[in-house]
Amino acid sequence: MDPADIMFLTAAVAITVTFLLTIASLHLRRGVPLPPGSLGIPLIGETLQLVAAYRTENPEPFIDERVKKYGPVFKTHVFGEPTVFMTEPDTNRLLLQNEGTLFDCSYPGSISNLLGRHSLLLMKGELHKRMHSLTMSLGSSSVIRDRLLVDMDRLIRSNLAGWSDRILLMEEAKKITFELTMKQLMSFDPGEWTESLRKEYVLVIEGFFSVPSSIFSPTYRRAIQARTKVAEALNLVVRQRRKDKERDGAKKKDVLGTLLDTDDHFSDEQIADYLVALLVAGYETTSTMMTFAVKYLTETPRALAQLKEEHDRIRGKKDHLDDLNWEDYKSMTFTQCVINESLRMANIIGGVFRRAITDIDIKGHRIPKGWRVFASFRAVHLNPEHFEDARTFNPWRWQSNSGMLMPGKIFTPFGGGTRLCPGYEIARVAISIFLHRLLTTYSWIPTEDDKSVYFPTTRTKKRYPIHVRRLDATSDVDQKD
Ligand SMILES: *[C@@H]1O[C@H](CO)[C@@H](O)[C@H](O)[C@H]1NC(C)=O
Repeated sequence: MDPADIMFLTAAVAITVTFLLTIASLHLRRGVPLPPGSLGIPLIGETLQLVAAYRTENPEPFIDERVKKYGPVFKTHVFGEPTVFMTEPDTNRLLLQNEGTLFDCSYPGSISNLLGRHSLLLMKGELHKRMHSLTMSLGSSSVIRDRLLVDMDRLIRSNLAGWSDRILLMEEAKKITFELTMKQLMSFDPGEWTESLRKEYVLVIEGFFSVPSSIFSPTYRRAIQARTKVAEALNLVVRQRRKDKERDGAKKKDVLGTLLDTDDHFSDEQIADYLVALLVAGYETTSTMMTFAVKYLTETPRALAQLKEEHDRIRGKKDHLDDLNWEDYKSMTFTQCVINESLRMANIIGGVFRRAITDIDIKGHRIPKGWRVFASFRAVHLNPEHFEDARTFNPWRWQSNSGMLMPGKIFTPFGGGTRLCPGYEIARVAISIFLHRLLTTYSWIPTEDDKSVYFPTTRTKKRYPIHVRRLDATSDVDQKD
């Protein structure tokens, strides 16, 4: 994204009035004090410090610095609004568990416009509850075991079969997760149509962190146009599906089929919005996790060797072409440690934004009604008080729970409460299968030094270029199915 966009975003959104009102309210409020912290300079607040901090390789300088100075709950002013940052497990839990009573979800204008108002992320109240539980059920273990797993394995395998020499791992992983998601949502197999849709998608996602103004930001304008195209394409699919269903009662068990089968009588627009958002949710996050897992493993040879042993053992029990099944997945125990540790280190979703519905008193401070709140998961996951030697990749800590001082409750890579990520298990299975196929098909070396950055999203700068070499030359032929 264009740095000029960020500058403008902060300036445009933070109108002077807001700032002056904030200052005024600071002086008027009596009783419980606001959290300590600095609101920075007018309009821009501390946005530039935040952006600069997350552009470095150190994942948490912005929060670290302020926690040291002000304590675990502090106020700042970023992206146009005064915002309270929370950095501890108990306050994060309070936020996650009190959706709709103390806190409401709240996203910047660019994200909500691009997702569409019927997306799960922006739904509230009863409808959100119903749609969330429906979505959870579509990603449950039994659905994955009985229906999704075979397709996932097949799609991952056929993608990997085409690799040779130098590849950009992040790009390849994105292609894979897009195909997986399209299949799960509407039973589409990869082809020209899905690939052209993916190109539009990339433009939509680029718009998320731009200034929500078509006049000032070309990125945003492109994103809105792409979003319209995506929605139109999905609308066509929905309409066709309705027709098929009326004509011959054809029922598909994918996400779209399930939505058409509910008694809610959703409109085409509602369904398209919902699908757009799920596609976004599954696409970037899972592919970035795949890339980071490989990066951490490459940098930790002992972990890579142990993981390879686990997957060779599973492959050794099967014929070369055999599909993976649920038991295989369940036997990937060290893989789960690697995935948890990668989730902990990379923190693709570093935290969540909410808005206070009412005045909230927290640890001796007051969050005024209407203020933005940011609960940082990353701050917890990288805190040495909770995870020993917190900034080192150590998958073994999950084996014995030894490197964790408070296991369980404090690790929230998928959020929690009523907005727990409905795709958490699908993501885990997808990453597991991906690692299985990668480790049993290829060896690789990174071709360049590639660094992590944390803004606007967590990723590596060069999309992780690697050179792959097939382990078994004869499998070249076998793998094409
Ligand atoms: C990984 O984290 C999840 C929480 O997201 C937890 O339930 C699970 O037990 C962890 N797995 C291992 C192997 O520790």
